[in-house]
Order: sequence, then C-alpha cells, then structure tokens
Amino acid sequence: MGGLSKKIFQIKSLSKENTANSLLVDSGNLLFKQTNIADGPSQARLAASTIVEVYKTIGFDAVAVGPLDLAGGVLFLQQSKNDNFPWISANIFNENEQLLFKPFVTKTIQDREITVFALSGAPKRALSDVYIKPWEDILPSLLQRIRKKNRNGLIVLLSSLSDKENQVIAKEYKDIHVLVSAHPRKGNVAPQLINNTLLTQTAKQGKHQGLLEITFGSSRLWGQNSQKKLADLQNSLGSINWQLQRLLKKSKPSGNAAKYEKTITRLEDEKKSLAAEINTMKDQADEERNGGTKEDNFTYRFIGLKKNMPNDQRTDEKIHTLNQEVRKLNARLKQAKTANRHITGAKSSLSLIGHNACGECHEKQKIFWESTRHAKAYNTLLTKNKNLDTNCLPCHLSMEITKGAFAPLAPNMILSYPEKLQSVGCETCHGIGNKHSTDPEQFKLVLTPASDICLTCHTDEHDDNFIYKEKLEKVSCPAG
Ligand code: HEC
Ligand code: HEC
Ligand code: HEC
Ligand code: HEC
Repeated sequence: MGGLSKKIFQIKSLSKENTANSLLVDSGNLLFKQTNIADGPSQARLAASTIVEVYKTIGFDAVAVGPLDLAGGVLFLQQSKNDNFPWISANIFNENEQLLFKPFVTKTIQDREITVFALSGAPKRALSDVYIKPWEDILPSLLQRIRKKNRNGLIVLLSSLSDKENQVIAKEYKDIHVLVSAHPRKGNVAPQLINNTLLTQTAKQGKHQGLLEITFGSSRLWGQNSQKKLADLQNSLGSINWQLQRLLKKSKPSGNAAKYEKTITRLEDEKKSLAAEINTMKDQADEERNGGTKEDNFTYRFIGLKKNMPNDQRTDEKIHTLNQEVRKLNARLKQAKTANRHITGAKSSLSLIGHNACGECHEKQKIFWESTRHAKAYNTLLTKNKNLDTNCLPCHLSMEITKGAFAPLAPNMILSYPEKLQSVGCETCHGIGNKHSTDPEQFKLVLTPASDICLTCHTDEHDDNFIYKEKLEKVSCPAG
C-alpha cells in the first residue's frame, strides 16, 4: 500500500481544482497485482477491500472492471458494487445473459453529454457462472444505444483489452472519442490520434494521474494539429539539446577541430530556429484553443506522485485498520496450523464404520442426518476444489474425537479417506460404533455429544456464532 495515502491526497486535490467541469475515471486493474487470488481470507483480499473503501471517498464517476480486478472472483466485486462503488463493464455477463455491472455512465459537462463505457479483458482466473463476451459481439449495438441517448456528446471507452484490439476499435469506431487503456505492463502513453479516437493510458495502479483537458468545439472532431506539431517540434529540440550536450562534454578532437566546431555551430543554429518555431506554434495552438474553432481541442499532462504530498488522513486511518486486520488474520492462520497438528500423527487405520452401518438399525436418524449440512461437509470442499487440502479436511470429514481433539492421523490417511466417511458422520458425535453395532445393549454410545466435541470444529475462526444449545437443537436426531 506504499504511497496510497499520498496518491489519494493528490487525486483529491486535483479533482477539487476541477470538480464542476471534470470527469474522474479509472480504467481498471486497481485491486490485485496477481492474476489469481485464492479463495478464503488473505492479505491480498483485505488490501483490495481497503482500496475500494479508499477510492470510494474520492468520488469517481466510473471505474472499469479489469482482468486483475476479477482475480479475486466476481463475488468479491459484486460486494463492492452493492456498496455503491461505480464499477462499469459492458461485456461481463452471467449465465442468464444478464449484465453484471452497469455498461456505461453519463454525465453532462458544459452542456455536453459525456458517456463513459467499459470493455473488460478476459482474466486468467477461471470464473464460474460468468463470462466475458468478445467485444465484437456487443460493440456495434452498444454504440448505437449510446448514440441514441447521447447524440452530440463525447464518448469515452475505458478498455482493458489488448493493445491490438484497442487499435482496431480506434480505427473502426470513429464515434469513440477517447480510449483509455489499462495495460498492466505499460506506463504513461501520450495521446495518439487514430482516425478520430485519442488512444491514451496512464501508469498502472495510480502511480501517475493523467489529466486530459478538452475544449469543446462543435464538430465532434479532434483538431489537434498545432498541438501535435508542437509536440513534434519539442521532441526535435530535445534531441538536439542532447547531441549538443554530448559533444560539449567531450574534449575537442585534436586532428578534426574544424569539423567539430562546424557541427556545434550547425546544432546551435538549428536549436535557435526550432525555438522560434515553437514559439509561433504555441501562439497558434493557444489561438486555436481560445478562438472557438469548430473542433475539439485537448492538452494533456501526466502528473507523477510528488514526494512532498501530505498524507490523506482518512486513507491513513483505513490503512491502519487494514494493518490490524492483517495481523489478526496472520495470527488466526498460525493458530489454525497448530490446531491441525493432528494430521502429523501416526495412526494408520480407522475404526469408524460409517453412517450406512448405523442406518441399518437407526433409519429414522439417518434420514434426518442426511438433511443436515454435516452430511454434505465433504461435498462442500469438493465444490470448492479443496478436497485435497489437509488444512480443510479434518473438520469436513468423520473424525474420531476424544477430549475435544482429533485423534492423531497420518497425513496420507486423511487424503485417502474411504467414501463412507466423507462427511461429518454419526460417529463424530456419538463415538466409535463398531462394538455397539454388534452388541448394542452391552456397548452403549454417547447419546448427547458434549460441547467440546462440537467446538473441535466449530472454532471461532470457522463459526463465530456457535451457541451450543441453539445449534445442538438443529442437529438433534429424532427419537424412535
Ligand atoms: C445392530 C443394530 C444397531 C446398529 C448397527 C447400531 N445401533 Fe445404535 N442402538 C441400537 C439399539 C438396539 C440401541 C438401544 C440400546 C439400548 O437402549 O440399550 C441403540 C442405541 C443407540 C444410541 C442411543 C444411546 C442411548 O444411550 O440412548 C445411539 C446414539 C446410537 N445407538 C448410535 C448408533 C451409531 C452412531 C451407530 C453406528 C456407528 C449405531 N448406533 C449402530 C442398535 C444398533
Ligand atoms: C468434525 C467436525 C465437526 C463437528 C465435530 C461438528 N460439526 Fe457441525 N459442522 C461442521 C461443518 C464442516 C459444517 C458445515 C458443513 C457444510 O456446510 O459443508 C457444520 C455445520 C453445522 C451446522 C449447520 C447445520 C445445518 O444443516 O444447517 C450446525 C447447526 C452444526 N454444525 C452444529 C454442530 C453441533 C451442535 C455439533 C456438536 C454436537 C457439531 N456441529 C459438531 C463440522 C463439525
Ligand atoms: C477447524 C475446523 C474447520 C476447518 C479446518 C475448516 N472448516 Fe470449513 N467449516 C467448519 C465449520 C464448523 C463450518 C460450519 C460453519 C457454520 O455453520 O456457520 C464450516 C463451513 C464451511 C463452508 C460452508 C459455509 C460457508 O462458510 O460458506 C465452506 C465452504 C467451508 N467450510 C470451506 C472450508 C475450506 C475451504 C477449508 C480449508 C481452507 C475449511 N473449510 C476448513 C469448520 C472448519
Ligand atoms: C452433529 C452431531 C450428530 C450427528 C452427526 C449425529 N447425531 Fe444422532 N444425535 C445427536 C443428538 C444431539 C441427539 C439427541 C440427543 C438427546 O436427545 O439428548 C442424537 C440422537 C440420536 C439417537 C437417539 C435417538 C433417540 O431415540 O432418542 C440415535 C439413535 C442417533 N442419534 C443416531 C445417529 C445416527 C445413526 C447418525 C448418523 C446417521 C447420527 N445420529 C448422527 C447428534 C448427532
């Protein structure tokens, strides 16, 4: 989270200077750095939630969903969407062909309507029940829809598609005036005009802010000729200055002094004439901007993070809370690891006989038990693809529990559990039943499992709401 607080301060003060007439957008990929974040609580997820909270205090008009934002799964994003975070994407659908986010937002600035829409690139992570439609399938009709609402305004696309795709879109869709890309490995990209689309990007994850100032004309066409020429001239001047400096640093070559002097003079002359040309061009550009030409004009700036920026106080507070939560999480993870020490034990055979054997004499109880989540506990892991995770297995299987602890088991045992024990079965609560099954009268089982049995699995970490009496009622097998 290095520098986040200064960054936020800077964005806030920049947007304060320009509020009434400005549109604040982010082209996405701001939550995660990795392409796939494992399920379950982690530092990366806590940090991402904090980023959302902090960005919420800025008041963005739109934030595009990028593939790196999807790295934690769609559910994660939807939670922040429900919290009124302005995510947009026009090509993320659920299996019923419904859009998961708003496709675009519209804002009026100086009588000009501005529509911002977003196209999301496909994430590396596999998403369940959600898919990213190819932009080709939706863009033509989407633009028609936008144009119907916004006949004369500006259209901005926030895109996390590939460079190649962005170039094609810029070439083929003149209606899109500005395309801001979100390439994860690219820095600032000065606006490049393709047909009538300005293609640009700022460095990732808020390292820079890009400021695009637009003066509206009437034609909806960019007239940035003098701007572009000016930039070219400034580039040439830069390279001449560089050559000059290089030459001047070298000592005069003894044999070829005349040629050396000549080169220096030539470069000095060129420098002078370029400087003069730049001045004229500057005036021309200013005139173009102020003279109410038919065309839209723009200037741009990339603003790096200034070291002397103060911190944003609310962000500091949120980061403080985050650090506390991360510490708590790490402590819990450590605790869970020690709690799972049992799997390093040596026992290599199981005495449990499984629920089917019990069901032969206790059918009513078996039918009831099958309706509880205990019967599906292993299945739950299976659907999460965690059925081979020894950190999860013990609490989602039938285990022998004595005095509030799992009986020791070798790790390979827990990974090769027989199917009949793949659930939190009868013997977890009532005790091992092999002898009872052959002679029920002589070998009685526990009727009411004590709370320490439940608490072996229903730890604070996995069930922060365990009230023995209330929960016992829910799992009590019926009499008879
Ligand atoms: C061969 C039939 C049979 C099998 C198999 C069997 N039971 Fe029983 N179980 C009985 C009988 C009969 C009683 C009643 C014994 C009594 O009241 O003396 C009983 C009683 C119980 C009780 C009540 C204990 C009490 O104190 O009231 C529980 C709990 C129980 N069985 C659980 C199980 C479990 C768990 C399994 C499987 C591991 C199992 N039984 C397998 C026949 C069986
Ligand atoms: C071996 C670990 C383990 C033990 C022991 C255990 N549970 Fe559970 N319990 C679980 C797991 C795992 C789930 C969630 C299963 C799922 O949804 O996949 C669960 C779910 C539950 C639920 C939700 C059930 C439902 O159908 O809604 C209740 C209530 C519950 N347990 C109560 C108890 C009580 C009371 C005890 C002690 C008598 C107990 N559990 C013992 C692991 C255990
Ligand atoms: C210390 C015991 C324990 C361990 C270890 C454990 N669980 Fe659970 N798990 C439980 C209990 C208890 C419940 C039921 C909680 C409730 O009813 O609220 C549960 C419920 C669940 C549920 C369903 C309820 C939900 O929260 O959506 C899932 C999914 C789950 N666990 C996945 C996992 C995974 C994945 C792991 C390994 C990373 C794991 N569990 C490790 C005890 C455990
Ligand atoms: C999560 C714990 C749990 C699991 C798992 C569980 N039971 Fe029970 N069982 C209970 C509780 C609690 C009672 C009620 C005890 C009481 O009445 O005080 C009970 C009661 C019983 C009784 C006695 C019913 C009577 O006549 O009063 C039998 C028999 C029984 N269970 C069998 C089973 C069998 C068979 C299974 C597996 C198919 C099973 N239980 C799974 C918790 C469990």
